[in-house]
Amino acid sequence: MLELRSREYVEGRVRAGVLEQRTVDLLTEAGVADRLHHEGMVHEGLELRFGGRGHRIDLSGLTGGRRITVYGQQEVVKDLIAARLASGLDLRFEVAGVSVEELESARPAVRFTHDGGPHELRCDAIAGCDGFHGVCRPAIAGALRVFVREYPFAWLGILARARPSSEELIYANHPRGFALHSMRSPEVIRSYLQCEPGEDLAEWPDERIWSELQARFELDEGFRLNEGEIFDKGVTPMRSFVVEPMQHGRLFLAGDAAHIVPPTGAKGLNVAVADVEVLAEALESFYASGDTSGLDGYSARCLRRVWRVQHFSYWMTSLLHRPPGQDPFEAKLQRSQLEYVCASEAASRTLAENYVGLQRV
Ligand code: DHB
Repeated sequence: MLELRSREYVEGRVRAGVLEQRTVDLLTEAGVADRLHHEGMVHEGLELRFGGRGHRIDLSGLTGGRRITVYGQQEVVKDLIAARLASGLDLRFEVAGVSVEELESARPAVRFTHDGGPHELRCDAIAGCDGFHGVCRPAIAGALRVFVREYPFAWLGILARARPSSEELIYANHPRGFALHSMRSPEVIRSYLQCEPGEDLAEWPDERIWSELQARFELDEGFRLNEGEIFDKGVTPMRSFVVEPMQHGRLFLAGDAAHIVPPTGAKGLNVAVADVEVLAEALESFYASGDTSGLDGYSARCLRRVWRVQHFSYWMTSLLHRPPGQDPFEAKLQRSQLEYVCASEAASRTLAENYVGLQRV
């Protein structure tokens, strides 16, 4: 396993924090979920807030008891690094000059420098888990078809030392734009608000962030968010992106290297874990019997889930955000859809089963 950044960097980088039931099950099976079960916060529902009212979606009741766990992605990363190091297997941080070559041969190569010297790995297969900006996807760009959608907004995310103002996540659709109330512990909240793409954080002093969040979470019956010291601020871009196929020769793309979802619904890590599950199974049968059918079918199997998750993330994003210059007709359709999702059991189940993670796609 080769990592460009330092251990401190990857362990400290704040990302989303919602794990689907199936992701928790898989991490548990893999033996890397002890801390997750101790520190993760299990949620059985969420709130949609619009028109000055809150509406609870009973995730558990609608999905036969399935739940989500709120546990920061970088905590999962810490647990995976600790497990890898404990196994004694190789894991190198701060490698440089990585390239993947001879991908159509039976022994593709990874070349890189580490500790001042050049290295070459000869592989049976290469897992390209190097994110959207990595080297793996560009190495096979000529063989890929790209599907993209950009959104005319972004998210400003904060971490703050404050007690959560609700036991469950709140997704708010407000005329001033989307806002999300989430948490990391009983003392730390994570919140996001819709902003402009490329927003300058210098224009968002803490007071402005709090007053904007207070405005977007308002309720007719009255509501105050608990405020506290903001100790992390960042802007998350919004993009939908998929390449097909997710493999070429002996290189297999997984996670953000192959696809990006907008953050609404927190699917990025979950769909990356699902890719890796498919790849691990395929590698297991390849090493057990030389059978390459799992590897050959990797992309097709992953893409079914990838597109389901793409649709769900796009749909949640469209349901909850206010596009700049929103057409009044579109605004009415959006409100009607929100009301339907809350009023109809069939519609709320559609949200719930996708949110907790579909077993099969
Ligand atoms: C969080 C992030 C999300 O994108 C989301 O939909 C819910 C929660 C979070 O970081 O807690």
